[in-house]
Amino acid sequence: MNNTITLNDGIKIPAVGFGTFLIPPDGSTYKAVREALDAGYRHIDTATAYYNEEEVGRAVRDSGIPREEVFITSKLWVSHFGYDRAKLGIERSLKKLGMDYIDLYLVHQPYGDVLGAWKAMEEAKAEGKLRSIGVSNMTPKIWNSLVPQFGVMPSVNQIECNPFSQQKAIREIMAENDVKVECWGPLGQGSKDLLMNEAIRSIGERYGKNVGQVILRFEVQEGMIVLPKSTNPERIKSNLDIFDFTLTDDEMAAIRALDTGKTKHDPDAPGVGEYLINNYPIND
Ligand SMILES: NC(=O)c1ccc[n+]([C@@H]2O[C@H](COP(=O)([O-])OP(=O)(O)OC[C@H]3O[C@@H](n4cnc5c(N)ncnc54)[C@H](OP(=O)(O)O)[C@@H]3O)[C@@H](O)[C@H]2O)c1
Repeated sequence: MNNTITLNDGIKIPAVGFGTFLIPPDGSTYKAVREALDAGYRHIDTATAYYNEEEVGRAVRDSGIPREEVFITSKLWVSHFGYDRAKLGIERSLKKLGMDYIDLYLVHQPYGDVLGAWKAMEEAKAEGKLRSIGVSNMTPKIWNSLVPQFGVMPSVNQIECNPFSQQKAIREIMAENDVKVECWGPLGQGSKDLLMNEAIRSIGERYGKNVGQVILRFEVQEGMIVLPKSTNPERIKSNLDIFDFTLTDDEMAAIRALDTGKTKHDPDAPGVGEYLINNYPIND
């Protein structure tokens, strides 16, 4: 079972998606995605720069689940920004996934010729190749410098978000524009501090739920989409098993109070775009 959220363009997206960052394309992605689909996930998050789109596509096909029942997100990498390069990048993703449309496609990182890339994505949406389009890693500063120049409002902004990093400023801007938050690193990327937090653990005890489940439930109850990643079959299952309990207002307030107002990744820091291009090369 999974909650569904309606995006600002009317497209419906399952609130819990399966994250695939850092799962290698050596058969591990195929295996993890098959396990996730068997466990009931119907939303997979991949990216050109994860190098695993091909295995994601193959896992979905081999699962036998009809294509229209699985929501696929992929992302355009910085080396495919600019109008012409973006057209090529979109075709590359479709080809690697082996699909004739992608449910949601994101500008992965907000550096370089984002406006040209966005125009190509708007056109691909109009042509039906991309059902919905969105952005990622946009801070208020980046959002305000780019989004007012877009023709189509993004449907999501995929940002680092978890109980220690609740992203209140950008979430307010997005709420004003009916843009949904997708939480990357919804479990703090495995952070021990977060996953052993005593306040969260004691809330979970009341419901027979583990810390990861309470965190994901909190984020979904806040109206956000979450993308937990795991290669562990038990954790793959438990991360989706969050729809049979509801946190009370007091419990929600207690978890909101854990916000530090900081994030680990700072998209506004100088040199981030160059660092990403150098560390995640895409050569075609
Ligand atoms: N747009 C972007 O720039 C961006 C950036 C980063 C990530 N993402 C997307 O967001 C997804 C999620 O982010 P993430 O993978 O960085 O971090 P995450 O999902 O917060 O955390 C994953 C880590 O937590 C562990 N884990 C998973 N479930 C657990 C549980 N229930 N209890 C304890 N530990 C658990 C995993 O280990 P095991 O595998 O051993 O379970 C893994 O080490 C990514 O996979 C990717 O799809 C997007």
